[in-house]
Amino acid sequence: MLSPEKNHLLTSIEPGSEMGAYLRRYWHPISGAADLDTVAIKPIRLFGENLVLYKDLEGNFGLVDRQCAHRSADLAYGYVEKCGIRCSYHGWLFDHAGRCLEQPFEQTVLPQSRYREKVKLKSYPVQKKAGLLFAYLGDGEPPLLPDWEPFSRTDGFVQVVTADVPCNWLQCQENSIDPVHFEWMHSNWSARMRGTDELGPAHTKLGFEEFERGFIYKRVRADTDEDDPLWTVGRALLWPNGFFLGNHFEWRVPVDDENTLSVSWIYQAVPDERRPYVQDHIPSWKSPTTDPETGRWITTHVINQDIVGWVGQGRITDRARENLGQSDKGIVLMRNRFFAELTAVADGAEPKGLVRDPQENVALPLPVANRLSLGAGAVNGKFILHAGQPDAVREACEAAMGYPIDTSGIL
Ligand code: FES
Ligand SMILES: [Fe+2]
Repeated sequence: MLSPEKNHLLTSIEPGSEMGAYLRRYWHPISGAADLDTVAIKPIRLFGENLVLYKDLEGNFGLVDRQCAHRSADLAYGYVEKCGIRCSYHGWLFDHAGRCLEQPFEQTVLPQSRYREKVKLKSYPVQKKAGLLFAYLGDGEPPLLPDWEPFSRTDGFVQVVTADVPCNWLQCQENSIDPVHFEWMHSNWSARMRGTDELGPAHTKLGFEEFERGFIYKRVRADTDEDDPLWTVGRALLWPNGFFLGNHFEWRVPVDDENTLSVSWIYQAVPDERRPYVQDHIPSWKSPTTDPETGRWITTHVINQDIVGWVGQGRITDRARENLGQSDKGIVLMRNRFFAELTAVADGAEPKGLVRDPQENVALPLPVANRLSLGAGAVNGKFILHAGQPDAVREACEAAMGYPIDTSGIL
C-alpha cells in the first residue's frame, strides 16, 4: 500500500508536479506519424497541457501550445503553411520552435517593427521514428531518442495503435510488471467468456530483476520450466512508462492526472517465402474501448482487457486500500525505484536509462523471449491485441503475410 501522500507523488503529473517534471525528461511517443497524413493538425493533451501536433506543407512536424500567442485563439482551427502553423484568427504564423514568423497587419503598418521577435509560442521538439512521433517535453538538453532494436527490423509488418484510457498513467504501467494477470485476465477470463473451462497454465514461480533499461520479469508456469525463455530471458518493463514483449511495445503516456494515451507499436514477421519484404507505409489507428451497444468496456482483445483492469481501479487508484501479495513484488520494486529516482534527480542526478551516446544508440538490444515466433515461417493468423482494426490495415497486413487474418479477438 501507499499513503495518500506517496500515491499523490507518483500519480500527479500535471504542470508543477515532481513526477511530471521527471517523466518529461524522457522522449514519449505521442502519435502514429500516419495520423498526420489525413489531417494536418491534431489537438493533443499531454501532461496536463493542451497542445497541437501538426505537419506543415514541407513535412516538418511541430508540437506547440494549442492557444495562439496573440490572443489565445485555438490553433487546432489554424492551418499549416510551407513552414509552420498559422492562426486562423489574425494570421500570425509560428514555426516548430515557436518563433513567430509573420504578423501580417503589424508588418503592414509597422514594417520596421521587431515586435514578432519578442513573441514566442510554447513548443516542444518532435522526432519521427519507426512510424511513431516522439516528443520531448522536458527542460534542458534532450537525451537521444532511443533506437530500440525492433525499430530497425526488416521483413515485418508494423502498425501503430492508440487508445484513450480514462485513468492515471501509473496503474497502466503497473501492468507492465504484473505477470500473473496474463493467466487470469487473458487466459482464464477469456475461457469463461468463451463458455469453456479450459484454464490457462498456472504460474508457479516469478522472478524480477532490474536492468539498465527498466526491469525484467520472469515466469515459470505449470506448462514450462526454468529452461523456457520466459524464465531465461523474460520480458521488460521499459523505464519509465513502457512495456516490451518481444514483438510489440506498449507505452502509457500521461495525458493528465486522470487520463492516459496508450500507444502500441506492433511488429509481425512475414513468413519465409514472403522475404524480402519492405513496408512502404506504417499505418496508425485508434482502438475503441467501449461497445456502443452495451456501453460496457470492450473485452474481446488483449489490451482492451488490460484497459478493463486499469480503469476499474478508478481514475487515480487509491493505493492506501490495496493489499499487496507475492505477485506484486515487481510493482513494489518499480514504485521504490521511482521514489529513489525522484530523490536522486532532485540532488542533480540523471534520470535512469537516458541515452546520450550516439555510438551506443544503434539498435539498442532488449530482451526478446519469443524470438522464434518472430522468425522464419511464423504464422500468426490472428490479430488479438486491440479491437477495431480497420479493414484497410487488415488487408495491408494480409497482403504482407499472404494469409488471412482474423481480427475478432480471443473469445
Ligand atoms: S489570436 Fe491568433 S493571430 Fe490573433
Ligand atoms: Fe495484459
